[in-house]
Amino acid sequence: MVNRNCRATLRLLTLINRQGHPHPPLSSSPSGHISHSYLILPFSIAFVFLTVLCFYSGTGIDACWKQLQRNNVHGEHKIVSFFSPLASSLKTRQWGVKIQSRCYGSASVLVQRNPKFSKLNDEDVRYFEGILGAKNVIQDDEKLITANTDWMRKYKGSSKLLLQPRTTDQVSEILKYCNFRCLAVVPQGGNTGLVGGSVPVFDEVVVSLSAMSKIISFDKVSGILVCEAGCILENIISFLDSEGFIMPLDLGAKGSCQIGGNVSTNAGGLRLLRYGSLHGNVLGIEAVLADGTVLDMLKTLRKDNTGYDLKHLFIGSEGSLGIVTKVSILTPPKLSSVNVAFLACKDYSSCQKLLQEARRKLGEILSAFEFLDSNAMNLVLNHLEGARNPLPTSLHNFYVLIETTGSDESSDKQKLEAFLLGSMENELISDGALAQDINQASSFWLLREGIPEALMRAGAVYKYDLSIPVEKMYNLVEEMRSRLGNDANVVGYGHLGDGNLHLNVSTPQYDDKILSQIEPFVYEWTSKHHGSISAEHGLGLMKANKIFYSKSPETVKVMTSIKKLLDPNHILNPYKVLPCSSIS
Ligand code: FAD
Ligand code: MLT
Ligand code: ZN
Repeated sequence: MVNRNCRATLRLLTLINRQGHPHPPLSSSPSGHISHSYLILPFSIAFVFLTVLCFYSGTGIDACWKQLQRNNVHGEHKIVSFFSPLASSLKTRQWGVKIQSRCYGSASVLVQRNPKFSKLNDEDVRYFEGILGAKNVIQDDEKLITANTDWMRKYKGSSKLLLQPRTTDQVSEILKYCNFRCLAVVPQGGNTGLVGGSVPVFDEVVVSLSAMSKIISFDKVSGILVCEAGCILENIISFLDSEGFIMPLDLGAKGSCQIGGNVSTNAGGLRLLRYGSLHGNVLGIEAVLADGTVLDMLKTLRKDNTGYDLKHLFIGSEGSLGIVTKVSILTPPKLSSVNVAFLACKDYSSCQKLLQEARRKLGEILSAFEFLDSNAMNLVLNHLEGARNPLPTSLHNFYVLIETTGSDESSDKQKLEAFLLGSMENELISDGALAQDINQASSFWLLREGIPEALMRAGAVYKYDLSIPVEKMYNLVEEMRSRLGNDANVVGYGHLGDGNLHLNVSTPQYDDKILSQIEPFVYEWTSKHHGSISAEHGLGLMKANKIFYSKSPETVKVMTSIKKLLDPNHILNPYKVLPCSSIS
């Protein structure tokens, strides 16, 4: 019996059998972004003014630059906009050395263009046209702006060339030439990465995998799919659905991200809890090294203990060791009974206990356990079209989305009902709703998957992706709230079942003062609690210099040796993943 003292009314206990997957396709095109171009002029003036001041006071450009960082840099866009090329030409005049630098948000992330890299010339472009054909060698301004700008509109490069190979051989020829010429390269998938890894920092050549989007084979007996790296995740999901299978990976950016990008970031997403990470599901990879060597590791075997399993080096290496061109992946069969519940909890402790109970009572049918706090919920309801609160009586402190996937409708139903009723009796849930059809399930998922988009629409976002022991996780959100007071909206959500917190700080615009209150505090706190400063998004440019918060110097040294071995000229995704100091 349901405890009648409990305010909860579990609205819908009609379970459904669904054929399709409930997650709505979330367009990753960030409409509603705030334009920062209007800031260029005032900041240029500020820079010139400070420069003149510094010359007269004899402090020099470096001091001037630091002063600017302290006083005027509120966000990544602004400094990128004004700093190049004005600052570099001023530096040239003073020392006769042309240094191109960029600062991204944090005052400590000042990146200088590696002078060893060549500059692109007409002869290079002609060479690439010879390999790819003119239409796959793109110099069109509009397309370049898109390729140079990341999903969050935080990181902006100035590449003049976008290449679209159609075959592994073409990728190989491109890299062989770039390596010979010492031209830096950024591998790019769907450009949905959140750490500035997918776009150039300076003038790197962008190699897009978009034109390599064929499904090569699918074995229905083993469930093993082999495809090219440029396949969009959602297309793979649809293909598998038609074959009676599912992808072991799902995430909000599925409409744009590519399997090559997913593998290269070791994306986690919404199903990791059930199916594990890509290190387990990816059976084989074909990758091209910096010198053009093609590594054929495209095995379709579950078991293969012949020497070092090198494919794992490319899973999560963020394009810094090679370009992934093909992937083979183990996919589970689609099961007939899927249920989605959207539940409210009064406090974080109840969310934790609910997770424990879900593991125990739902066991093998539990396929997702996601959480969001009331700030995240408010944000989605206020900024995302179509978002509706299924528990409208009041705004609760926490929400949990639980998905079950199983093969026996009546037993799954029994299990879920027993779990929900038990949780209500124990007052772990204060309200809840169970989806009755695919549309309701989709609308529940929208509340969780729509948070990144809603954050973008709300203004500036400082985004952190942390692994922290579950019992400590939410303390960080609370501490951050008390540090920032009313100056910012601190939002917590994430993959609770995986111990992965997405801590986001939302403000009307970027503000250096806020940033200095967040960093390095957030990294120090995470490190102190034995967490990871990147649970699933990677390090990219944003956190390349922060790696030591999560990895020992000895480990980073080995990583650097591997990088040097596979990419001795460091042409692949420079300035990303590893600290610049270790790569020089
Ligand atoms: P890109 O963004 O193009 O690139 C990402 C990195 O991989 C870059 O360093 C790039 O150089 C490299 N790369 C890309 N393709 C290749 C290749 N073929 N070979 C070598 N290197 C390559 N991440 C999660 O882990 N879990 C989530 O739940 C999640 N949800 C998201 C939701 C939204 C709305 C958004 C915008 C992003 C989300 N992300 C999530 C972040 C992101 O990592 C994933 O979207 C995705 O894995 C990136 O794939 P992509 O094809 O867009 O890669
Ligand atoms: C998510 O889980 O929604 C993604 O990782 C994106 C984000 O953290 O904003
Ligand atoms: Zn996530």
